Amino acid sequence: GSASFEEQAGRFRAAVAARHTVSTTPRRPGLAETGDGFHNAPDSDFTAALVRGQLAAAMAQLPDVTVDVVTTPADVDEVVARIVAGQAAWAARTSAERAALLNTVADRMEADRFATLALMADEAGKTAREGDPEVSEGIDFARYYATADLPAESEPIGSVLIASPWNFPYAIPAGGVFAALMAGNTVVLKPAPETRRIAKWLVDQCHAAGIPQDALQYLACPDDDTGRHLITHDAFGTLILTGSYDSAKLFLGWKPRLRVLAETSGKNALVVTEAADQDAAIKDIVKSAFGHAGQKCSAASLAIVEAPVYDDPDFRRRLADAVATVRVGWGPDPATIMGPLISPPGEALERGLTRLDAGESWLVEPRQLDDSGRLWSPGVRIGVQPGSWFHRTECFGPVLGVVRAHDLADAIAIQNGTAYGLTAGLHSLDPGEIDTWLAAVEAGNLYVNRHITGAIVRRQPFGGWKRSAIGGGPKAGGPDYVAAFRRHPSVAIDF
Ligand code: ALA
Repeated sequence: GSASFEEQAGRFRAAVAARHTVSTTPRRPGLAETGDGFHNAPDSDFTAALVRGQLAAAMAQLPDVTVDVVTTPADVDEVVARIVAGQAAWAARTSAERAALLNTVADRMEADRFATLALMADEAGKTAREGDPEVSEGIDFARYYATADLPAESEPIGSVLIASPWNFPYAIPAGGVFAALMAGNTVVLKPAPETRRIAKWLVDQCHAAGIPQDALQYLACPDDDTGRHLITHDAFGTLILTGSYDSAKLFLGWKPRLRVLAETSGKNALVVTEAADQDAAIKDIVKSAFGHAGQKCSAASLAIVEAPVYDDPDFRRRLADAVATVRVGWGPDPATIMGPLISPPGEALERGLTRLDAGESWLVEPRQLDDSGRLWSPGVRIGVQPGSWFHRTECFGPVLGVVRAHDLADAIAIQNGTAYGLTAGLHSLDPGEIDTWLAAVEAGNLYVNRHITGAIVRRQPFGGWKRSAIGGGPKAGGPDYVAAFRRHPSVAIDF
C-alpha cells in the first residue's frame, strides 16, 4: 500500500506488542555477549585464545563429582523422606532469605563457569559456544526467580520432583530447582542417566552456597522399577519434566492424577519467504538446525522456503556452503560449532541421517566421522514433502529438511502441520507477512528474523503448545513460573 515504512513498522510493533512478549531488555554482558552472530563465538583471536587456554586448564582438572546411583525403592524412600521432613522448615524461611540463597548460588555458578563448561564438554559433548550460554542461562534463572513476588496469601505446594534432560544438563535442572525452591518447596532432582555428573555438580554448588540438604536432594536412579517408584511416589504432587512426549504419556499412565508440567518434543520449522534477507536467513537456519548437533527441543528441523527462493540454485548453493563451514569435533574448543551426539543415533535419527523418501535428495549428505558412531557432519535433505515421514517425525540430531512452499499461506500450513508446537521462525522483511504469520502460527515461542533456539530468561519466556507441552503450565523464565509452585487457597470464614 501507500503507507510509509515507518507507519507499517509502527503498526507491526503495536500488533506484536498486543499479542506477544516482546524482547526489550538488554542481555547481561558477559562472555555470551561476544558473539559473531553465533551464540557464543569469541569475537577475536585474542579472546578465543584466552577462552581456549582457560578451557584446556579446566579440562585438565575436571571437578571431582561423585555420583551414587540409587537402585532400590527402599533407598528412594529414604532420600524422599529427607525433603518431606525438610518441607516445613524451608517453607518457613522468608522469600527474602530464599532469594538471597539463590543469588549466592548464582555467584558460585559464575565463579565456577569454566569448570562447568569442562564438565559439560566431558559428559555431554557440549562445545563452549553452547555450554557458555547454558551456564549464563542457569545463572539468569537463579537471579530472575529470586526477584519473584510471592503473594502473601499463597502457600508452597509441597515437595516437587524434577526429571531433567541430558541436552541441557545444567540450565534446565537449574531452572526447575530454583523456581520450586524459591516458591518454598523442597525438591528432588532426578537427572537423565546420560548426564548424572553435571546435575550432581549443580546440586553440590547449591549445597555449598547454603541451600540445606533437607531442601534439595539429588537422586540418580535407573529408568526401571526404581524410577517408576520415584515418579509415582506419593510425596510429590508435581513433576517438572523435560523430555519426550512419550515419557510424559508413560508417566501419566502410571499415575493419572500426577500434576505434570512438561516441556516435551518438537518438530520446529523456520519459514523463509521471498521477502527475506537470504543471507541472514541462511545463517539463522544453520545456527538453529546444527547448534548442539541439533539435539535441542527448540532446534530447527525444517526450513520451509517459498518457491522463488527454493527454486533459485544460488540460494541452495549458499545454504550448502554455509553448512560446509560448520566445524565438527570433540572437545569444547571455541571454534567448534558442532560436537558429538550424546550416543550413536537411535532408530528415528538413523533413518533421518541415512534414508531418503520419495522426492528427497541430499543437498549436503551427512557423514559419520569416526568409529564412535557419535560424530556426524551435518546433513540437509531437500525435496521433503508435506505429510512425509521427515515432515512429521522428530529426529533430534544434525539433519535439516527443506520443504518447498507455494506461498506464505502454504508455508504456514506446512509449519502447523505437525503434532507439535514448540518454536517457530519466520524470515521476512515484509511487515504484512510478519503480521499474517504471527496471527496464524501454532507454537509457543515465535521468532522473527532471528534464530529459533537460545531463548533468553525474562526476554523470551520458553514453553510450547500442542504436543510440545503438557500441563498447560506457565513458561520457564517468565513472570508466572515461580507462582506455579504456590497454591492459593480460597478462604471463607463465618462468625
Ligand atoms: N530454552 C532452550 C532454547 O530456547 C531449549 O533453545
